[in-house]
Amino acid sequence: MKKLVALVLALIMVLGVMSFASADDAQKVVGIAMPTKELPRWNSDGAFLVKAFEDAGYKVEITYSDNKEDQQVADIQRLLAEDPALLLITAVNGEALNTVMDEAQEKGVTVIAYDRLILHDAVSYYVSYDNFTVGVLQGQFIEDVLGLKDAGDKTFNMEFTAGDPPDNNAGYFFNGAMSIIKPYIDAGTVKVPSGQTEFDQVATPSWSTDNAMDRAANILGSFYGDGTVLDAWLCSNDSTALGVAQAIGNDYKGDNQIFVTGQDADDLNVQNIYEGKQTMTVYKNLANEVAVTLAVAKAALEGEIDGQALADSFDIDVAYDIESYETTPGHKCPSFLLVPYVITKDNMQLLVDTGLYAWNADNTFVQKVPD
Ligand code: BGC
Repeated sequence: MKKLVALVLALIMVLGVMSFASADDAQKVVGIAMPTKELPRWNSDGAFLVKAFEDAGYKVEITYSDNKEDQQVADIQRLLAEDPALLLITAVNGEALNTVMDEAQEKGVTVIAYDRLILHDAVSYYVSYDNFTVGVLQGQFIEDVLGLKDAGDKTFNMEFTAGDPPDNNAGYFFNGAMSIIKPYIDAGTVKVPSGQTEFDQVATPSWSTDNAMDRAANILGSFYGDGTVLDAWLCSNDSTALGVAQAIGNDYKGDNQIFVTGQDADDLNVQNIYEGKQTMTVYKNLANEVAVTLAVAKAALEGEIDGQALADSFDIDVAYDIESYETTPGHKCPSFLLVPYVITKDNMQLLVDTGLYAWNADNTFVQKVPD
């Protein structure tokens, strides 16, 4: 009998310790700061992140900042007031978070820059796709479809639309694309009738579809109104490609096929690819980006990370990169970079195969995101 009582007591103690431990874990707060609900992908990222971290037992607070850097500072201040163990931030402006990053550092909060780097040393880790490669894939796609390598005396007309300057990724995308296309501009094979080839000239404030559409409409009116043929428009992402495709539909006089690039596989763009209004998108599987982020977050909250070993442990392609990204000059940021790939009309089934898209009977596409 004594033995039984002792056993029951021991069991109660073990259960007590176990439930105490999980209650403690569950109380760890993770603050997530997303840039905006206006750009399609961040709603999906937000939904995937909340689900993943809640399922892992964290208490999650999430903010969206309407693409306004001041609002994001205020939002992060509110998150910091909750005493988070971890902040996960996709910055509206990678250079505008100094005050809140100082505060996070003072409080000893672990900061992970999600998808976009923050230029402050409070950032412990950066999880993203290989942003330069995204641009390279877009450039190589145009190089292939126009046959630039074997163009001989042929010339092609092309325009560019890049992203939002305060987004640290935007320059990487553009430079990656230009690393492929610029030599053809220099050689005279690719002409840019608008003359706009510098990042600042082709950038799109807030990555906005309307801004991209207005600029494209102006260019088409000013430089192609006389029947000049447009062959390709390199857009850094899908929100801008949507605007450019709309402007081409409204304002381009010719009837040749125009190759338009993008990035993200947003629903409307996948639809446009199906209908031939956009030619490709660079796909970055968000569920994978979130899975890697969760694993990095968990490891970081437990102590020092062996980054290479962690990267090797994923069954997702991830490079552990300690060279490419700096938070401040000379201060390298350990980065986990996933590998993007190209989607065209010919391989759209790959999206469905991820399990994250549904291809409906009426040939519309929807991305499946957690509620
Ligand atoms: C992301 C892209 C996205 C863009 C606009 C970038 O930082 O990497 O995937 O298209 O922001 O939302």
